[in-house]
Amino acid sequence: MSLYARIAGTGGYLPEKVLTNQQIADSGVDTSDEWIMERTGIRQRCIAAEDETASSMGEQAAQQALAAANIAPEDLDLIIVATSAPDRIFPSTACLLQQRLGVRRCAAFDVQAACSGFVYALSIADQYIRAGGAQRVLVVGSEINSRLVDWTDRGTCILFGDGAGAMVLEASSAPGLLSTHIHSDGQFADLLYLPNPINGKNGCELPHIQMQGNEVFKVAVNTLGQIVDETLAANNLDQADIDWLVPHQANIRIIAATARKLKMPMERVVLTIEKQGNTSSASIPLAFNEAVRDGRIQRGQTVLLEAFGSGFAWGSALVRY
Ligand code: UT7
Repeated sequence: MSLYARIAGTGGYLPEKVLTNQQIADSGVDTSDEWIMERTGIRQRCIAAEDETASSMGEQAAQQALAAANIAPEDLDLIIVATSAPDRIFPSTACLLQQRLGVRRCAAFDVQAACSGFVYALSIADQYIRAGGAQRVLVVGSEINSRLVDWTDRGTCILFGDGAGAMVLEASSAPGLLSTHIHSDGQFADLLYLPNPINGKNGCELPHIQMQGNEVFKVAVNTLGQIVDETLAANNLDQADIDWLVPHQANIRIIAATARKLKMPMERVVLTIEKQGNTSSASIPLAFNEAVRDGRIQRGQTVLLEAFGSGFAWGSALVRY
């Protein structure tokens, strides 16, 4: 009997505060709502409150996912958190989330793969479940990008938002995750990165995201096209077999290029970018959760998840929901 990782429940959390493009322009940044909407598809994003952290937001998403899965926190074998904004450098945000969930002993660790973090974490969870090393795994993406951007840099501050998404996976004899695919190429490490202040001369300065957006854009479009092909080929499927595309939400033009590659109308693509911006590793579980809860994604349907980001690191997962 094959073991699959089945998505038993999903959850999401968005901070209350909303920041619109117009408000960014009004704050003195040399940009406009029209430019941002046309070039990125973003209209607004959510901003975490001062007392919120990756673990506190992750807890909200996790509790929802656990309730939907009807699984108690103490039944988890493993907690994996993808984040680029950990509460502390150590211990892991996953340990802090474990503490918040009031459970002890199960393994908990973080994964650092920037915007592809959730797909990476999903891939790890899938390997554990298939190998019989875990029965129930909580996977969370939680990000506070608003604390990582320079709010005077129009090339980055308009793009990002905060939020958390979660999935609970459990071992099942029926699919489940059909396959996951992850790749990296560190040659591109300088095109998109966040410096670590412990290594700098100005040890006290807060680091900000550095990005050569245009270069990232070009590689993202090509690479995502390739991973779509790789994923379909690995499962002997063709484009028509995919019911939904749930992409990482970095730029509507990147998403549209991937949808074109799949010959998929945009109505079959789950989009959150207009209201949430780029929430990095939280974007895929947030979008998936939204489409499950509003009834778009149905049990039995085939869903393709894909992400691309800093590293570069990219990946995909094909899900029979
Ligand atoms: O999630 C991780 C992966 N990240 C991504 O995938 C991000 C990929 N990159 C992008 O989404 C796009 O490259 C951006 C949205 C960041 C930028 O869009 P673009 O169409 O590539 O613009 P550009 O960087 O080529 O800049 C075009 C012009 C420049 O002006 P000049 O030099 O032509 O006069 C920029 O200075 O647009 C200007 N510009 C802006 N203007 C108004 C750049 N940012 C802004 C802005 N408002 N916010």
